[in-house]
Amino acid sequence: MEHPSMVDLLLETHIDLERQGPGSFEAIEQALAFLGPLDQSSKIADLGCGTGGQTMFLAQRLPGTITGLDMFPAFIDRFHKNARSRGLEERVTGIVGSMEALPFPEHSLDLIWSEGAIDNIGFEKGLSHWHGFLKKGGFVAVTSPSWLTAERPAAVERFWTDAGSRLDCVGDGIETMQRCGYQFIASFALPEQCWTENYFIPRKAAIDRLLEKYAGDETVLDYAAQNQYETELYAQYSRYYGYVFYIGRAI
Ligand SMILES: C[S@@+](CC[C@H](N)C(=O)[O-])C[C@H]1O[C@@H](n2cnc3c(N)ncnc32)[C@H](O)[C@@H]1O
Repeated sequence: MEHPSMVDLLLETHIDLERQGPGSFEAIEQALAFLGPLDQSSKIADLGCGTGGQTMFLAQRLPGTITGLDMFPAFIDRFHKNARSRGLEERVTGIVGSMEALPFPEHSLDLIWSEGAIDNIGFEKGLSHWHGFLKKGGFVAVTSPSWLTAERPAAVERFWTDAGSRLDCVGDGIETMQRCGYQFIASFALPEQCWTENYFIPRKAAIDRLLEKYAGDETVLDYAAQNQYETELYAQYSRYYGYVFYIGRAI
């Protein structure tokens, strides 16, 4: 059997999961309640869409067309399969691309949605680049890792920095949004079950299958240990940090 790389393992773990990061349909509903009305002609983008669990839900809740964008072709292939199996392929399309170089016409989008992805390119960089693709009055709804308290445990800070990301405090996230040309509308923290029941538990089951499939493989053991550490860190420190939904409107 081929020796899998860390990226192979990331894809193999997540491809069959309903979501590739923390979140929930309830949180999506909560965020949607802050948006203005959309119609059949509305154009929506879901950036860092993964296999599209949230995209399909959005398509069932909103009118208009949705384009999901992700850097991994394997996720976009599965995204198309998911759209077809729900009969959504007329309104939902997936494309392989970069969140840092969006392929849309300027000022063409009514809504940019993005869960668990913007921190890969930086909250400010993402919001600022994406602003140019929203119509005036268009909405942005993103989740980003954030501090929830004034206390910031060093182990948590180290973990996110080592992962190439960072945690902002919510006030800074709001100010950044305003600085990037948005009217701030709302923000709220995702509840713990978005991380535990909806993400860590199904992910652990997928990783356990990989541990069996690639028994004894050092890379798989390392990968499983890293994921386990992330889960334990969250269990210990969940009151200090989490994903926060930030909702704004392009002005
Ligand atoms: C934590 S997952 C979240 C996926 C999905 N939004 C969800 O909540 O289930 C982050 C996603 O962002 C994608 N991603 C990361 N950096 C990217 C980039 N620079 N351009 C496009 N997609 C990117 C990853 O491939 C991955 O699918």
